[in-house]
Amino acid sequence: MILIKLGGSIITNKEKPLSARKKAIDNLSKSLKKIKEPLIIVHGGGSYGHYWSVKYDMHTKEKKYNPKGVSIVKNSMIELNKIILDSMIKNRINPYSLPPTDFMSGNVPIAKKVKEIEKISKSDLVPVTFGDALWFGQKKTYILSGDKIMTHLAKILKPKLCIFALNEDGLYSDLKSKKLIFELHGQKPSISENKMDVTGGMKRKVDEASKISKMGLNVFFVNGNKPERIVKAIKNKTFEGTLFRGK
Ligand code: IPE
Repeated sequence: MILIKLGGSIITNKEKPLSARKKAIDNLSKSLKKIKEPLIIVHGGGSYGHYWSVKYDMHTKEKKYNPKGVSIVKNSMIELNKIILDSMIKNRINPYSLPPTDFMSGNVPIAKKVKEIEKISKSDLVPVTFGDALWFGQKKTYILSGDKIMTHLAKILKPKLCIFALNEDGLYSDLKSKKLIFELHGQKPSISENKMDVTGGMKRKVDEASKISKMGLNVFFVNGNKPERIVKAIKNKTFEGTLFRGK
């Protein structure tokens, strides 16, 4: 099974609130259709969920946030999820949408439910889940990022490969020259916050990717604007991006 996160920066235009990059989504769907292995897809919030969570000052910390904010974030994620599902259906992939409430209890994944997602992926359906605002308990909610979902799913399901599709070629050792890091073996690159991503998204991705590779799983950062690279990584094991080798 292959686990793929479609980052918010690739599926939405982060500069413009509530704008999906429909062409990029369609191109991703076309490439995903070429993959014959079971897939599980996670997507981010980009200019949908992130936009509203910033407006309503909502974060990953469990707190009593504005209920209107919770509703609006969730609603916007359903809207973005629908755009992705429509693109997949148009490209003859059979998506099976699962909001994270399906497999999360508070901030803990429900192992039995997560294992069920893998079974779904092995039956000609492609489970699709996403970062979301989630109920925690005692009137508290929190933002669960798609990156964190990747770690939760990877830990339980041990996928063959975890892929993060980004709006960059991978991780750069030097931001100015955009010198790409091809492979990492356990060492954690230092990422200067807010340089690559205004929301600090890149740092969080690197944190989650490091955690996953420490579980002994390979993690691949790839440019989602070049979705054929995703297909090549899976089919030919050629990695045009940054590979975190499982340790
Ligand atoms: C978005 O998930 C969660 C919400 C704000 C609702 P991510 O944090 O994984 O999204 P991107 O990929 O960084 O945009």
